[in-house]
Order: sequence, then structure tokens, then C-alpha cells
Amino acid sequence: MVERETWTSRSGFILAAVGSAVGLGNIWRFPWMTAENGGAAFLLFYLIIIVGVGIPGLLVEHVIGRRSNSNPFGALKSLSGSDYWGYVGILAVFASLVLLSFYSVVGGWIIRYFIDSFTGAYLSNPVEHFQAINFGTSAVIFHLIFLAMTAAIVYSGVRKGIEKATKIMIPVIFVLLILLAFWAATLTGAGDGYAFYLSLDFAALRANWLDILLSAGGQALFTLSLGVGSMITYASYIGDDRSLPADGTIIAGLNTFVGVLTGFVVFPILFSSLGEAGSQGPGALFIGIASAFNALPLGSLIAIVFFGIVLIAALSSSISMLEIPVAYLADEHDVKRERGTTVLAGIIFVTGSVTALYPNIFDFVAGTLVDLLLTFGLFAFCIFVAWVLGRDAIEEFRKGTRYSTGLANSWLVLVGTVLPVFLLFTLLAGIASLLGVSVPAFGPLASNQVIAAGAVVLVVVVVSIVRSDKTLV
Ligand code: TRP
Repeated sequence: MVERETWTSRSGFILAAVGSAVGLGNIWRFPWMTAENGGAAFLLFYLIIIVGVGIPGLLVEHVIGRRSNSNPFGALKSLSGSDYWGYVGILAVFASLVLLSFYSVVGGWIIRYFIDSFTGAYLSNPVEHFQAINFGTSAVIFHLIFLAMTAAIVYSGVRKGIEKATKIMIPVIFVLLILLAFWAATLTGAGDGYAFYLSLDFAALRANWLDILLSAGGQALFTLSLGVGSMITYASYIGDDRSLPADGTIIAGLNTFVGVLTGFVVFPILFSSLGEAGSQGPGALFIGIASAFNALPLGSLIAIVFFGIVLIAALSSSISMLEIPVAYLADEHDVKRERGTTVLAGIIFVTGSVTALYPNIFDFVAGTLVDLLLTFGLFAFCIFVAWVLGRDAIEEFRKGTRYSTGLANSWLVLVGTVLPVFLLFTLLAGIASLLGVSVPAFGPLASNQVIAAGAVVLVVVVVSIVRSDKTLV
């Protein structure tokens, strides 16, 4: 058996998990999604989903991880005693490889932009520059560099690699990002950026609610690193004395803080130089932001700081993806960490190069496949916790806390009912939109639909509170 490590301290676990959560999702994907989905309307849905689905979902993964002290495959298999749940776990491990295959390519773009910030290479021709580097040989080379950096940290282990690295990275990200937000507030036109970001357009919200809901749901899972078992794996290295609900809330809170803060940096920058939020999709950060730096005071210095932050954030997340299959090989096949890391990096170098060479494959993986895999993954984890673990999940939830069973029971009811329904709905709607099927009932939102949905949620919440002194199973 390969010896299993643990975090050295509570803050070690929290910082590593925050590092996993805070990443390209907050800084690259969030502004792009927000711009595409009407600004404040998206932000509102996103925040509601973080609280209603994200935090309970995070606790689902933490409960599974700490209960089993194992990787997603070993966890589901050993806790259920069934091979079928093992297959679900394998799917999660596989999904982590898919995820890292595209994430590492974007990480490579970030390294490239960080380096180019010193020479100002992209400042005068942002569109051409992005198109020259985003796919092809350059993308493959920088993907390899990013992957090597990720692997170097994971190779060094849970304590000496991941914990040590994230302890330095997270404070740096927070301090620099807060400074940037203050700087952004001084830009002329910052007000228009805030207005786009913070003022709600109800008509647009009602007309596009489904798209906004799906994007906000996908974004919430992505940003909290849910659905492939990053959080299962990280929680498998913590002890029974920690309070999962407390730690989970801190992790989600800090992550949301960074996401929202990024909006306060990005939108003033975009509006002050371009006068709009930009509509370049995945290229938003690279084209919109990069061209903005050209027009701004101290632009090239700010660019270095900005892409530096993004790079650190991306690395602190990518290590949590690679750690999943590394833990799997160590736990299940006795493969040493060093060897596992090297072999897996070799595999991801190849799969990532495919997405770096073929834009269509990249778009499919980053835009559609990942959302579906994460949603299915978290759906399965919820069903597992509520309907297979049941009482054990409640016991695990309460370990290290002083809570009575009330909170744990309400959580489990939510996780066994509202969450799977919501996730299944987004999964099916996602598949329908992939296949180009339009469902008439999903036209513009009518007020009776809002009332009906609200009533259902209310009933579940009331029932769960009333029943909270009894156990679900
Ligand atoms: N949450 C990270 C981000 O926002 C990405 C990430 C790390 C992730 N591990 C994950 C996303 C697991 C989904 C699943 O960039």
C-alpha cells in the first residue's frame, strides 16, 4: 500500500480547496459568461445557485471524501460495496482527465500572455495576436509548459507540493486582486462597467431565463470544482476533528468573493477602454482585456500583474484536477505518486494537444462536454449521499461540529430531492440544446411558472425544516 498523506493543518485544507475553486473559472469564464448572459441577471442567478446548490453540493463531496479517505472510485465502491457505484467513480476520474485536457491549454495561453506582457507583444493588435497563438504549435508548447508546472507541484506530494504551493498562492491572489479593483475604480468609465454588472434587466431575464439558468448552474459547479471529485479527493486528506459545514462555507464564501471581485476589475477595464462588455466569448479575456491595457495608464505593468494573478489561480486549480487520477492510481493500483504523476502528465499532454490543435474539439469540450460531465457527476454524488449513505452521511456531516442533527437532516433532504431535480433538469436541458431540440414550455417565463416553481421549493424547505428532528432514512 502506498502511504496516504494528510494536510498539516485546517488552514492547509481550506487554502488548498480555495485554490482549487479559485481559477480560470472565476477570472476567464465568469466575465465571459456574465457578458454573454446580460450582466446582473446572470450574477443574481449565479449567487442564488451558489448558496442553494453549490454549498450543499460541496458538502456532498466533502462527506464522501472524508468518510472514505479515498479517491472518487475507491470512495463510491467501498462505501456502497457495489461495483456499479465504482463505475460512476471511474467516470469521475475520467472526467478529470477531460477537464485538465482543455484547462491546461487555456493555462498555456495565460503563460504566453504573461510573458508577452513584458514586451507588450499583443497590445497593438490583440485580435490577430490571439488568433495567432490560440491553436496550433504554439498552443501545444505552452500547454506542455503549464502541464509540467502542474505536474511538478503534484509530484511533490500533498504537504510539500499542494499545501505549500497554495499557502503562498492564495494570499498573493487576494492581495493583488483587491489592489487591482481599487485601481480599476479610478478609471474613467468605471461607472458604466459597474452599471452593466450590477443593474438588473428584468425583461431580459424573463426572456432568456433558461439560458441564464443553465449557464449560471454550469458556472456554479465549475467554479466550486464540483462534479469530478476534486473536493472528494481533497477532503480524503482531512481528519475527523474539522467541521465540514464551517470549512465548506468558508471555501465557497472566499471563492465567491474572488469571482465577484473579478467583475469589479474586469468590467471597469472593458467599459473604460471599449465602452462595452465585449462579445468575444472565450476570447474575452485575451482580446477585450488585453486591448484595454493598451489604452490605460500603466497598462503594461497592470497587464503583467493581471496575467500573473490568472496564472497562479489557474495552477492552484489544475493541481486539484491532476491529483484525482494520481490518488486513484496510488490507492487502487499501488502506483507511487511520482510515477503516477509522470505517466498521467504524458497522457494529458497528448489529449490536451488534440484540443490545442482542433478548435472545434476545444469548443465542444470546454463549452458543452465539461458542463454535462460535471452536472452528471454531482447528480450521482447527491443520489449516493442521500440514498445510499443516508444516516452515515449525517454522522459524517456532524463530526467535528457541535450541531444537533437538525442542520444535517435539512441538508440531506435538500441533497436527496431539490439538488438532483435541479441537476437532472439542467442536464436534460443541456442535452436538448446540444441536439437542437427546443421545448415549448421553456419559452419566456410566465409569472404562474415562477409561482409554481417557488411553491414547490417552499414546500420542500418547509417539510425539511418540520422533519429536521427526524432522519430521512
Ligand atoms: N474551479 C476551478 C476554476 O474555477 C477549476 C476546477 C478545478 C474544476 N477542479 C475542478 C472544475 C473540478 C470542475 C471540477 O477554475
